[in-house]
Amino acid sequence: MKITYFGHSAFLVETNEKSVLIDPFITGNPHAEQAGIQADALNCDAILLTHGHEDHLGDTEAIAKRTGALVVATFELAMYLQAKGCAVHPMGLGGRRSFEFGEVQFTLAHHSSSVIDDNGVPVYLGNPAGIIFQAEGKTLYHAGDTALFMDMQIIGQQNQIDLAMLPVGDNFTMGMSDAVEALKWLKPAQVVPIHYNTFPPIQVEIKEFPAMAEVTGVSASVLEPGHSLTL
Ligand code: NI
Ligand code: MN
Repeated sequence: MKITYFGHSAFLVETNEKSVLIDPFITGNPHAEQAGIQADALNCDAILLTHGHEDHLGDTEAIAKRTGALVVATFELAMYLQAKGCAVHPMGLGGRRSFEFGEVQFTLAHHSSSVIDDNGVPVYLGNPAGIIFQAEGKTLYHAGDTALFMDMQIIGQQNQIDLAMLPVGDNFTMGMSDAVEALKWLKPAQVVPIHYNTFPPIQVEIKEFPAMAEVTGVSASVLEPGHSLTL
């Protein structure tokens, strides 16, 4: 399984001879743009979304329509994208389903989920989520945007997580120290910090994170946008 980071919360996972995008915010994502990533050059079989905020929904509609990729999201967000003409599969928190590309379960996330309409008013789109993704015997946990929450203990008990992607940018989500607390409960083999240094409110000293994570025995990889790791 090859996992490529596009900055912020966006990843491409290549597994089972399929390509799966998670939260493909490319256009307007300074990290992706600096790395020369272009939304119209990305191909995939499926797009997994944690919630409807623009920095996660990103280029989903354009990529899904161009490629025919199946968008897997919580119910209201899936229906919103279906109305825009995307192929979707709706799910709910706690539900698990096998697809050709792998198995998906949506988990709790403590956050919100909305899109801003043409009048600047938020339209609510149901529950935000985290994602457990399993394929080729590997387990990923993409936490989406979330506060620290104690049910991460259950996620850690029920899954042997090979790689956790955890937000660390603070302000809208956990900061670095809460992400370290999360590691104690999730017990992943590895962690990649996400959702930091994209915009002024989420600036952190990311170089401090690996040493902070090390205290829990978890190795942290600070991935450069455009770079990959293999599980
Ligand atoms: Ni958000
Ligand atoms: Mn976000």
